Amino acid sequence: MVWCVVGFGYGFGVVAVSGFGVRRVGGRVGAEVVGVDISGGLSGEVLEGILEALVEFKVLFFRGQELTDAGQVGFAECFGVVEGHPLMRSVGGGGGVLAVDGLDQRADHWHTDVSFRVAPSLGTTLRSVVLPEFGGDTLVASGELGYRDLPRELRRVADGLWAVHTNHAEQPRLGTARGDRVREEFLSRRFEAVHPVVRVHPVSGEPCLFLGGFAQWFVGMSIRESRGLLDVLQGYVRRPENSVRWSWRPGDVVVFDNRCTQHYAVNDYGSQRRVLHRVSVAGEVPVGVDGGKSYALREGE
Ligand SMILES: [Fe+2]
Repeated sequence: MVWCVVGFGYGFGVVAVSGFGVRRVGGRVGAEVVGVDISGGLSGEVLEGILEALVEFKVLFFRGQELTDAGQVGFAECFGVVEGHPLMRSVGGGGGVLAVDGLDQRADHWHTDVSFRVAPSLGTTLRSVVLPEFGGDTLVASGELGYRDLPRELRRVADGLWAVHTNHAEQPRLGTARGDRVREEFLSRRFEAVHPVVRVHPVSGEPCLFLGGFAQWFVGMSIRESRGLLDVLQGYVRRPENSVRWSWRPGDVVVFDNRCTQHYAVNDYGSQRRVLHRVSVAGEVPVGVDGGKSYALREGE
């Protein structure tokens, strides 16, 4: 679409595009969408523009929205089929709305949502429900930029690697009884999936580093042998230049493309309450640069 070519790129300020505006937040990743009320359904043209913007910017931010849980599910359905979490309880029992509550856990580690499954989420929407007075920002980093920044020699190495992702990965602990209960549920079944370290984005065709905190070791290598190289590759994704930081306000809704990003919840709000509602969208099985597909080793045993 012509207006997308005009509207995106490396321009400055708010660029009005068909029915809404886009304002870059990070220089290389992340944009705020302005002038769209996402609570009442989106016209075909606006929806198409938002889908294109998501692939371009990886994470989109919407301010001043008045969404209910049902409205958030409706918004997430714009991107695909809503899915529940395999290990975490949803709000009210049914549906796909999860409470991301700082009293349960704090996701202060870089990760890609449910990458321990063979078909990780396509994307995730987050909505502010209770916010701390300060702190509790969310960081989102681009695996596509991480890959692009790799020296050619390291790209060659990464292109040939596959990694095992598991929910039984080392994660930060809250150290409270409630936190331990949630963690116990999270570990109650074991998932392991093998993904290409370099995933080809199904829409853009761009290669992306597909790692995150659930990636524990490379196929053919031990955990100990893998650790150093995992850290090196992760370092390229997590560069400040390849990430964007979002300070939450009431009425905010965020959607990120989980196929090529990692995110991190900054744990700097102490005993203050922080609750976001999360609705994720089912994704496809990743494909590597050689055309090989991800596969499952353990599916919740
Ligand atoms: Fe997450």
